[in-house]
This record gives sequence, structure tokens and C-alpha cells, in this order.
Amino acid sequence: MKTTWNFTGTRALVAGAGGIGSAVIDALADAGADVVVLDRDAGQLAEVTRTGGTRDAGGTGGSLGAGGTVRGLSVDLTSADACHDAVTDAVGFLGGLDVFVHAVGTNDRRPVLETPDEVWERLVAINLSSGFWLGRAVGNVMVPGGHGRVVYLSSVSGLLAHRDHAPYAATKGGINQLMRVMAREWAPHGVTVNAVAPGYTETDLTRAYLAEPGMRASMEALVPAGRLGRPEDLVGPVLFLSSAEAAFITGQVLYADGGRTLV
Ligand SMILES: NC(=O)c1ccc[n+]([C@@H]2O[C@H](COP(=O)([O-])OP(=O)(O)OC[C@H]3O[C@@H](n4cnc5c(N)ncnc54)[C@H](O)[C@@H]3O)[C@@H](O)[C@H]2O)c1
Repeated sequence: MKTTWNFTGTRALVAGAGGIGSAVIDALADAGADVVVLDRDAGQLAEVTRTGGTRDAGGTGGSLGAGGTVRGLSVDLTSADACHDAVTDAVGFLGGLDVFVHAVGTNDRRPVLETPDEVWERLVAINLSSGFWLGRAVGNVMVPGGHGRVVYLSSVSGLLAHRDHAPYAATKGGINQLMRVMAREWAPHGVTVNAVAPGYTETDLTRAYLAEPGMRASMEALVPAGRLGRPEDLVGPVLFLSSAEAAFITGQVLYADGGRTLV
């Protein structure tokens, strides 16, 4: 997606190369940013690094060239060490860090009484703990550097009580609070921390669920705008909060949901 943003010279790290992450990565690169992408899925990394000679899914080190490059690093973000090392590698490739976007996540829909420990622990690790581990490592670079923009992908599920969403909702509520405390601690150092909260958006995360009989229509009926979100709906909100123009906004959850949280 082409944008009018100018991120020339910006060094960005994006965790998550799925539907929303890849739209953000494309927009940042098109706007001139050098981007390092973290994901465990080689196919997703190949997809976001596919365009142009400067894009590289190798993840084996080396330095980046001119602006607008995208480099993928294959990493499972469910351990503190992996997150710490991934940030160290990304900062090494980029020569610093200006923007971090956390767009990694997963869901598993079932009632609380049918949710085993394994599901709870997996969602907490991917959705919430990776946000803490990566955010802490990113803050260790941005705070001493005196500037930075951090944007988390939260969800309307962090506010509303959707049935069958207990672990997912808990991790998104947790991301909101993690984000607010980071925002307060890092504001004196020129680092802003915010979240963008999408409503139901058409990506791999929701594809199977929306394909269930009648599900799409019932989900659309809950949205005043009359449709589900598309990955490109999140690009403007994420890039705005990543921009120099958003310097005095911190600790906020920006709902990009077609009005879903109004009803
Ligand atoms: N799609 C929606 O309806 C929706 C709504 C609200 C919030 N969100 C949030 O937006 C963010 C992006 O979601 P999406 O729709 O692009 O999802 P997606 O499934 O398309 O992409 C998620 C990406 O995370 C990666 N990932 C998962 N586990 C990982 C791990 N352990 N290590 C490394 N990478 C891992 C996957 O490989 C995938 O590329 C998530 O935080 C999600 O919770 C999505």
C-alpha cells in the first residue's frame, strides 16, 4: 500500500509479519524506513521481503544499504533470551532503533472451563510475554538514546468481554497496562509508547473463524461501519503513532474498529 508518509532514515523493528504486520512493514519501507522483521514463519518472512533487490529474508547478518530495506529474522519469540538476542541483532543490522511495532499474536477460542493450561501459557507467552521481553530490550536502546516510538497491537478484546476469549482478552488487557507503565517511565526520555486496538480484521488470525456458518454476517452486524477491518486500516494509525508528529501522545489505546467499541 502506497502512503504519503516520510520515514526516510528511520530504523524500525516489527515483530510479526502476518496480515497486519506485513501491511505496516510495506508502508514503512515504502515511506523510506529500513525495517527488520521478526517472525517464526519462514513463509511470512519470505512474503514481506519479496519485493525489490534490497529485501532479504536471509537473517544471517550483514549491513543494510539505502533506505527502504526489509530484512527478515526467523525467531520464535516465546523466550526472553530469543527476544533479547533478536533485538540485539536487529539494532546491529540497523545501526540503532527509532520505531518498534509489536504485531505478533495468536488466539484460541474456547470457554474458560475448557481451556487447558497449555493454551493459557502459550497465549500468554506469545501475546504478552513477548511484548514485555521485546519492549524491555527495545527500551534499553531507546531510553539511553533519548528518543523512540513503540506501538503495540492490542485489540477490542482488551476492553470488551467476548465469550471464548479469556486468554486472548487477558493478554490484550495486559498489553494495555504494560504499555501505559512503559509510557509513564519512558516519557521523560523522549520515548512514546502507545497501542492500536483493531476490531475483527481479515487475516490468518480470523480466517477460519469467519468461515464458520453465519459468523461473518454476525460479526459485521456488530460494527457500525458495516464491515470488518482490513490490514490497511491499521497502517495509518500505526504509522501516525510511529511518527515525529505524535511526539506528545503517549500511553494511549487508539481503537481502529469501525465503531465496534461504541455499541
Ligand atoms: N486480525 C484481527 O482481527 C486482529 C484484531 C485485533 C488485534 N489483532 C492483533 O494484531 C496483531 C497481528 O495480528 P494479525 O491479524 O496480523 O495475525 P496473523 O496471524 O496474520 O499474524 C501473526 C504473526 O505472528 C507470528 N507468530 C505467532 N507466534 C509467533 C512466535 N511464537 N514467534 C514469532 N512469531 C510468531 C505468526 O507467524 C504470524 O506471522 C496481533 O497482536 C493480534 O492479536 C488482530
